[in-house]
Amino acid sequence: MGYIVPYLGIDLGTSNTQIYVRHKGIVIDEPSILVADRNAKRTVRAIGDDARVMLGRTTGESMAVRPLADGLTHDFDMTEEMLRYFVRKAIGASRLFRPRAVMTVPSRITPVERRVLRKAAVSAGIRENQLNLVDKSFASALGCGLPVFDPIGSMVVDIGGGSTEVAVISLGGIVASKTIRIGGVKMDEAIIGHIKRIHNIQIGDRTAEEMKISLGSALPLKNERKALVKGRDLITNLPQNTELSSTEVFEALRAPCQAILSAIQDVLSRTPPELAGDVMRKGIHLTGGASQLLGLDQYIASEFGITVLLAKDPLHCAALGVGHLAENYDQLHRIGRNSFLKEEKEE
Ligand SMILES: Nc1ncnc2c1ncn2[C@@H]1O[C@H](COP(=O)(O)OP(=O)(O)OP(=O)(O)O)[C@@H](O)[C@H]1O
Ligand SMILES: [Mg+2]
Repeated sequence: MGYIVPYLGIDLGTSNTQIYVRHKGIVIDEPSILVADRNAKRTVRAIGDDARVMLGRTTGESMAVRPLADGLTHDFDMTEEMLRYFVRKAIGASRLFRPRAVMTVPSRITPVERRVLRKAAVSAGIRENQLNLVDKSFASALGCGLPVFDPIGSMVVDIGGGSTEVAVISLGGIVASKTIRIGGVKMDEAIIGHIKRIHNIQIGDRTAEEMKISLGSALPLKNERKALVKGRDLITNLPQNTELSSTEVFEALRAPCQAILSAIQDVLSRTPPELAGDVMRKGIHLTGGASQLLGLDQYIASEFGITVLLAKDPLHCAALGVGHLAENYDQLHRIGRNSFLKEEKEE
């Protein structure tokens, strides 16, 4: 009977959710958003890709909901609803059996938050005694091919939408780690704040994200680039355009980039010398969507004098990691056994 039971790897992210189905690969890759009515019942109108299409075009009666912040559930009902929809879409017809799953959770999660995420997954249809929670950074390290079970220190820096998780992993466990609530979303907010302050214009989240991707960088660009941004004049309240330069975006992103640097520094300083030596030799591995910010790898490399390697498929490392565990669930028991050195710091 075992062969009929679907086995899933779920990466529930602040910005995007992915589901890997054993023997199939990643079948769900959609934004973590819903559109729901503003009334007390909060009837859900669209989820994931369908909801994204409606973003910015919702009427007064409905609103966009992002149920996760910093990777944690801040809207339980909506997290559950979204997860149920994605799980059903992922397993399609084979809904006869409740699936087993390996799901990512942020490293600094408290027991209460862990229970909340577990409950959401179980209500979404996962079998209670067949749900394994795995640290997001561990999954990311595994997904980008690092030797996580070997007696070698590997450093992974996962820069997602809501948070950055830095971890040194060895022998199947996390040796030192740090999570900060700074990721792609905070970078977008920094750009919004800058344009508001300097140009007196309010721009939307999507515009800010587009500017970050098209003009943003962690190091100053040799050839400055410019783009026209559309927003609303804060004085006249009318639509207004303004020209934004890559130098301005670089300036705006300086603080979040520095925060990521300090988090890495903090973890390196708490890593036992031999494992830190491994990191020096093998380099620092970047995963997560926001690690693709132009020049971020070079910026980190030049500050520490350590090679920095951007993962091949940064947006999917965590999902590929839990997917690997869904394919090879005999490896699950090897995780955490040796995490006796585990250190976690709250920000
Ligand atoms: N080319 C790019 N340059 C800079 N940022 C990017 C690029 N592509 C995507 N991003 C950013 O990556 C972020 C999403 O990354 P990802 O999907 O890894 O996050 P997540 O896993 O949902 O979040 P978290 O792990 O924090 O819960 C968004 O903020 C997005 O703007
Ligand atoms: Mg993530």
